[in-house]
Amino acid sequence: MSSPTSWSSASPETGRAAAAGDPPAGDPSAADLVARLRAAGCVFAEDEARLLGELPEAGGAREAAVRRRVAGERLEHVLGWAELSGVRIAVTPGVFVPRRRTEALVAVARRLLAPGGVLLEVCCGSGAIARVLAELCGPARVHASDVDPRAVACAERNLAGWGDVSVADVVDGVPTDLRGRVTLLVANVPYVPTDELDLLPRDARDGEPRRTHDGGDDGLDVLRRVLAAAGEWLAPGGATVSELAPGQGAAAIAAAVHAGLAAHAVLADDEDGAGTLVLVARRP
Ligand SMILES: C[S@@+](CC[C@H](N)C(=O)[O-])C[C@H]1O[C@@H](n2cnc3c(N)ncnc32)[C@H](O)[C@@H]1O
Repeated sequence: MSSPTSWSSASPETGRAAAAGDPPAGDPSAADLVARLRAAGCVFAEDEARLLGELPEAGGAREAAVRRRVAGERLEHVLGWAELSGVRIAVTPGVFVPRRRTEALVAVARRLLAPGGVLLEVCCGSGAIARVLAELCGPARVHASDVDPRAVACAERNLAGWGDVSVADVVDGVPTDLRGRVTLLVANVPYVPTDELDLLPRDARDGEPRRTHDGGDDGLDVLRRVLAAAGEWLAPGGATVSELAPGQGAAAIAAAVHAGLAAHAVLADDEDGAGTLVLVARRP
């Protein structure tokens, strides 16, 4: 994780190699932009300058974006997009920015979702995971939901033509015709223990709503609610997958077993090779 005292979201979330159309090295306006971003505390100032430099100058759009970033807004919210598994996802202020480490969860999930399956993503944020899985796996039905109407509006953009979205408190609000039919339930829920919220990087702590991170005393409050409901919504043999923090595996497995599911945790590869812990729980 990056320093809590620095803005840091250009990498790994949106960093990329230089490409045609980038400002030429030595371009004074590009150098000036890098200097402004660095002075504002952006750790990956060169990467950010390249991305912001892609915005149109016309009408002051680029300058307005740079000012928002320098004032401390998350880079992805300023740009209006983040990338997950090679797909560009719209992200709007107030909505959780999909993380590159979640590509590990996507890798596990795609092996569990057969073409023609029924995908439900709860706590969907921007709907990034459902969108990527819809493209990769060809499910027959996709539904995503979140408790926050800002997230739902953003997910509707990302899932237009791919699936439906609803406001739901965990599963309370999900269309009831999906009960007992879901073959894959994805739940990348808030899982940071409440007393560790202050340790989050500043981009996450100040740039995203507390509710997107706060998982209660041990970080597992929302996950326990998902697991308790999973048996009712999953088809026989259907699975649920969730990202975990290191050290949460045993408690998450115990919660799944308590809910009548068969569960294990896998350490899946993520973008920096550190591994992301993923809970897989099945309805027998
Ligand atoms: C860590 S973010 C993950 C978002 C998305 N799954 C992703 O990976 O990009 C957690 C999401 O859960 C939502 N959330 C928090 N509590 C919830 C609840 N009780 N019911 C439904 N969604 C909730 C938040 O609004 C947020 O969008």
